[in-house]
Amino acid sequence: MEKLIKNARIIDFSKDFLGDIYIENGKIAQIGLDIEKECETIDAKEKVLMPAFIDMHVHFREPGFEYKEDIESGSRSAVRGGFTTVNLMGNTNPICSRMDIVKDVMKRAEEVGLIDVHQCISITNEFDGKDLSHLEDIDTDIVKIITDDGKGVLNSRVMLDAMIKAKEKDLIVGVHAEDEEITPYSYRISENIETIRDIELAKAIGAKLHLEHVSTKEAMEYIVEAKLKGFENITCEVAPHHIYFTSDEENYRVNPPIREIEDREYLLWAIENGFVDMIATDHAPHTKEDKDKGAPGMVGLETAFNIVYEKLVKERGISLNRVSELMSKNPARLLGMNKGEINIGYEADLVLLDLEKEIVIDSNEFASKGKNTPFEGLKFNGEVIKTFKAGKEVYSKE
Ligand code: DOR
Repeated sequence: MEKLIKNARIIDFSKDFLGDIYIENGKIAQIGLDIEKECETIDAKEKVLMPAFIDMHVHFREPGFEYKEDIESGSRSAVRGGFTTVNLMGNTNPICSRMDIVKDVMKRAEEVGLIDVHQCISITNEFDGKDLSHLEDIDTDIVKIITDDGKGVLNSRVMLDAMIKAKEKDLIVGVHAEDEEITPYSYRISENIETIRDIELAKAIGAKLHLEHVSTKEAMEYIVEAKLKGFENITCEVAPHHIYFTSDEENYRVNPPIREIEDREYLLWAIENGFVDMIATDHAPHTKEDKDKGAPGMVGLETAFNIVYEKLVKERGISLNRVSELMSKNPARLLGMNKGEINIGYEADLVLLDLEKEIVIDSNEFASKGKNTPFEGLKFNGEVIKTFKAGKEVYSKE
């Protein structure tokens, strides 16, 4: 299979130039100017071509809650947002604590065939907060990350032991930092206290720690401090909604919650200054009925690029190179994947964007089953025109 994409503005973390990309057998085979080949050719004049996006934090709800999202609707949502890889959380039913569940999810995703998935296994067995025995059975060729996302790991000794095991097996510990005993008193202290605890444990043990959906100024300050001290085993992600809203404008229910202006500005500062490793959506589809009953979360895959483009590029003048680093290169490296960059030999997972196009968010157009978004009706620039996975077109706007 061959494909030639011509006359695009080609951007990844280190490049930004007008040119062509030639794809052969699913990989980027040639990058340059005036490439001529006898094969399917796409004219990408006035469009931007970037590595497809990779989302480190996604809930697809299969098995158990397919009425909210299944692997097929989730995959369609991903490619419509320009993503070809997602990292799936384990708060399904049953909770993903076993390799057979991981393999079923991956098989289903392969059958759908639109994206690559990585499925996380829980830190504690079925989120019981105590038992780590199932970690022995993880096949580390397949699973790279453990997380109890959706809730915190309350017991510090359990987290210490989980990090020791993770270090031994070279697993990444993904952390939803929330002390649920503190949450009813303060969502802020609840996030901060588990963040600092887990940073201290990771510093001592040397395990790989990935802090999910960091939302407070204090939590990010602890991360900045650890990074300045050289702890390369600590990474973090920030969600688009936490850099867009503040709680006096919007109080859409999400966990961690929309924070205050000082928090948002500090997160933006940390992104600008290289302390944030990636943007991850926390795509959390729910039905209207479940939202009315108080379920936290919002869908994110189909609005992520628009929000990032608005807040980082248009408002702050941050380069699209840095956006590509945050949405493609860094998550690919954390997952150990040969993608997220435009280089010869890399997977031809690409997204073609029209940055000029004005769009209005309309959840009825979402491919996701979840229509739960606080961005409804808001105007943005930028539209995904096509998404390619291993050179194959997996989404086209028309
Ligand atoms: O808002 C959230 N929704 N935060 C979480 O941690 C879980 C997620 C979900 O699964 O709905």
